[in-house]
Amino acid sequence: MIVLPMPGCERLGRLARELHGATGAVEVHRFPDGEVRVRLTGTVEGEDVTLVAGFDRPDDKVLPLLFAAATARDLGATSVGLVAPYLPYLRQDRRFQAGEGISARYFARLLSQAVDWLVTVDPHLHRIGTLAELFSVPAEAVHAAPLLAGWIRRHVEKPIVLGPDAESIQWAASIAHLVDAPYAVFGKRRAGDRSVEITLPDLAAHAGRRPVLVDDLVSTAGTMAAAVRALRSAGWPAPVCLAVHGIFADGAHDALRDAGAAAIVTCNTIAHPTNGIDVQGLLADAAARRLRAWHAPTAMA
Ligand code: R5P
Repeated sequence: MIVLPMPGCERLGRLARELHGATGAVEVHRFPDGEVRVRLTGTVEGEDVTLVAGFDRPDDKVLPLLFAAATARDLGATSVGLVAPYLPYLRQDRRFQAGEGISARYFARLLSQAVDWLVTVDPHLHRIGTLAELFSVPAEAVHAAPLLAGWIRRHVEKPIVLGPDAESIQWAASIAHLVDAPYAVFGKRRAGDRSVEITLPDLAAHAGRRPVLVDDLVSTAGTMAAAVRALRSAGWPAPVCLAVHGIFADGAHDALRDAGAAAIVTCNTIAHPTNGIDVQGLLADAAARRLRAWHAPTAMA
């Protein structure tokens, strides 16, 4: 088998080593007019190809990935799988206003046409319950909660795990369970892309604990920063902020630090200086499972 990291994903070398695969490369040339051409290095004919794609700021990355998958097929790959540590577009999972598109469905349809299977870490599934409702090819989600819990156990004494909004309850509850700590989630009202209001529940019973905010992703950091400010105004010590996916739109990291976060730690699903938790082992195990299932579907059923 051969692992082909898309540009920017070469840092995930452990993934290929754990999959015992050869590593090739996908060269992406951008012509002066903005069009792209991809070229695969190494021989893919007769090989199981696993593409590794980073999908933060995804609009410029999706087409090269689709072209790379199509090229691998054209050149005779036996199968084409995809490791996408962060899966974008999932928050637009319904038509919030008349006339809007449902990006989660359209993106899943595109990927389903391009690859035979995919794995990802903690997709933002809220109104859509499972990846199987979105993808027509096998799609497996792995969960970083045990890794986040391990980080908390090693670094925080007497934590309380806090989710900044109702959608974060799945992460807050499972992480709190794993570290044997209480948890709570906040109320959130979003007035715009970067404008968020947070309301705290009654946390008086947990005074003396160190707040640890957890969420699946930080984008503008409007949510996490408002949660930090709300905790600080209520007299809590500076919280630790943990997220699976640190997208960090322009200025977001500074905004979160300036709001008063004691520490900001993310998983390496998106390359960022805050990466402190390695998910490659999880992804390698899942990719190996998908490959086995692709070759022996009935044995895995
Ligand atoms: C939403 O439900 C997500 O879990 C995050 O809370 C949200 O998308 C974070 O976005 P931002 O950092 O822009 O507030």
